[in-house]
Amino acid sequence: MGGMANHGSSEARGTILVTGAAGYIGSHTCVVLLEAGWDVVGVDNFDNSSPVAVDRVAELAGRPIDFVELDLRDRVAVDSVFAAHDIDSVVHFAGLKAVGESVAEPLLYHDTNVGSTISLLGAMDAAGVRDLVFSSSCTVYGNPEPEDMPLTEAQPTSAVSPYGRTKLFIEEMLQDVAAAGSWRILSLRYFNPVGAHASGRIGEDPSGIPNNLMPYTMQVAVGVRESLSVFGGDYPTPDGTCIRDYIHVVDLAEGHEAALRTLPTVEGFEAINLGTGVGSTVLEVVAASERAVGAPIAHQIVDRRPGDATAVFADPARALDRMGWKATRDLDDMCVDHWRWQKNNPNGY
Ligand code: NAD
Ligand code: WQD
Repeated sequence: MGGMANHGSSEARGTILVTGAAGYIGSHTCVVLLEAGWDVVGVDNFDNSSPVAVDRVAELAGRPIDFVELDLRDRVAVDSVFAAHDIDSVVHFAGLKAVGESVAEPLLYHDTNVGSTISLLGAMDAAGVRDLVFSSSCTVYGNPEPEDMPLTEAQPTSAVSPYGRTKLFIEEMLQDVAAAGSWRILSLRYFNPVGAHASGRIGEDPSGIPNNLMPYTMQVAVGVRESLSVFGGDYPTPDGTCIRDYIHVVDLAEGHEAALRTLPTVEGFEAINLGTGVGSTVLEVVAASERAVGAPIAHQIVDRRPGDATAVFADPARALDRMGWKATRDLDDMCVDHWRWQKNNPNGY
């Protein structure tokens, strides 16, 4: 490792196993890692993604990842990946993420998210690989109050959905594992990832009706859906709509690269927010989307969505302090890039 000439001008940094590599955040992170000189082994079961994303990662980075189709709960299959490759660290994205679905199918969520992580950690331990970056979420802060903003990592954790509980349980399991042995674990708590690679070749491809604001807004803009329902116009915010911390998916991907470089300095378990620190209202997102699209986007204010917090945004100071990382792309960048992906791929992959 290090110093060895590798691909182009970059240097070989090591080999990373990326779980959920075909997914939205995983695919963007694979591109960033390949470009930064890491070798990547990717795994996914395509439960919520397409093999086309893996091809496009190779197209964008100019070299492929080693890809294995598997379900992470299949411990034998995961062991064989560690046997076949000299893995240095793992970035673990794989899992299910739809809050509403998790209420209807709690066992599926616990089995997939917690079960996959137990299988992965067992295989890592057996292979002697104990460096991990985990996809956590601001959902572990539960339903915080406006006066708790901006959220630091010291904010008490709790869960308000089965999905959120899987992230919380996994974080607590990772703390137990780290306390017992020689692990180095960074749990990255993402705020609201949006946007797409600037090429428009990879992006978010939700199946069915999108749950999240940005994909729904862009599907209205491209003509796939009629009109956006804005959930609640009577919140105590400047325009009455909820505030969130939207973060460009490429900034997020770069945060994972920074995390891998930071792992050698981690002792045990550490949680780090990945957000911009900037809160935007729903109507500000709609306005920025309209600027990006260059046309009005049909929307109307409807009742509040149960369970939505008034305002959620990060204090991103620890990420800068510990990893030298901060987000560089603003809401207009997010909307312009998300729109390019949506326009060029109106029906996804
Ligand atoms: P995604 O659904 O696009 O990617 C997840 C990938 O994991 C998919 O490709 C899916 O096929 C794969 N997968 C699911 N179960 C698997 C299994 N058992 N074995 C192998 N592969 C499996 O979602 P994403 O937005 O890229 O999210 C990645 C991670 O980040 C998830 O853990 C999610 O909970 C977390 N996260 C996402 C958001 C967000 O808003 N997108 C916010 C916070 C945290
Ligand atoms: C954003 C804002 C809605 C859709 C979710 C998860 C969280 C994390 C990120 C994974 C809210 C409003 C939305 C619509 C709307 N994911 N909205 N009309 O709820 O902040 O967070 O994704 O870990 O755990 O809960 O994101 O995109 O659903 O909503 O008005 O059709 O947009 O009310 O204010 P949320 P979101």
